[in-house]
Amino acid sequence: MSLKYDILKPEIGARVYLDRAGIGNPQVAQQLLELLETHTVLVFPGIDLSDGEQLALTDALGGRINIATRIAGLEREKTAEVYQVTLNEGAAIEKEYVLGTFFWHMDGLTVDVPPPKATVLSARHLAPKGGQTEFASTKAAYAALAEDEKAEIAGLRVLHTVTASLRELMPPGALDAARRTLRHEHPLVWTRANGTQSLVIGSTADLINGKSQAESRALLARLLDWTVQPAFTYRHNWSHGDCVVWDNTSALHRVLPYAVDSGRMMHRTTIAGLESVA
Ligand SMILES: [Fe+2]
Repeated sequence: MSLKYDILKPEIGARVYLDRAGIGNPQVAQQLLELLETHTVLVFPGIDLSDGEQLALTDALGGRINIATRIAGLEREKTAEVYQVTLNEGAAIEKEYVLGTFFWHMDGLTVDVPPPKATVLSARHLAPKGGQTEFASTKAAYAALAEDEKAEIAGLRVLHTVTASLRELMPPGALDAARRTLRHEHPLVWTRANGTQSLVIGSTADLINGKSQAESRALLARLLDWTVQPAFTYRHNWSHGDCVVWDNTSALHRVLPYAVDSGRMMHRTTIAGLESVA
């Protein structure tokens, strides 16, 4: 069995025609993993998966994890394995974390465990305005840097903090102590066991080791601007029932702002990371 797919953009994104009956097929899973490695973002238009089918797809692509409990890093009840991303009143997720996703980021950089390999997101209720999700290839962005720019950033290490990721939303002092301690240092350039290289940047990136805050922020901002240029990005305009899987190790993502009362509801599952940033 060979999956049909269209390439959305040369550097990022493929639209895959997956029959839900194929979700448990190991050959299909293998092909999906290869497509994910090559195209970084896979779109399954209108597939309209149930939570059970989404979990089955997640399991087929790797080990399922519950990132919500880990990101928060706080004593809290275990949340459901299908995580509801929404600004709806009464939702389990903290509003500031959802508002934080309006800014380019990678998931899972502020804790001392391998970042998630991939995220699976299904559209359950669309916002009437806004709510598109954008992806930027940190792999294509790194590959396209000039050699002297690669040399300039080789060996640099960056402190990633929750405080930095929420800096547009609240002053650092407004964060509770537990979240202020969520921080982890990573190399700026991630070289995977298979040789793939990518930038590790985004809203959690706070300070470059050995550089002043001004120098750090300037370099990080420059690399972010470079990475999110149109050639390296794909914007997904959601339709009902769409499912998107993206490689969290090779892409930044963000959502375009939507209203608190829009009713937007996305169901998210997460595939465990296998490699620490190295
Ligand atoms: Fe995210």
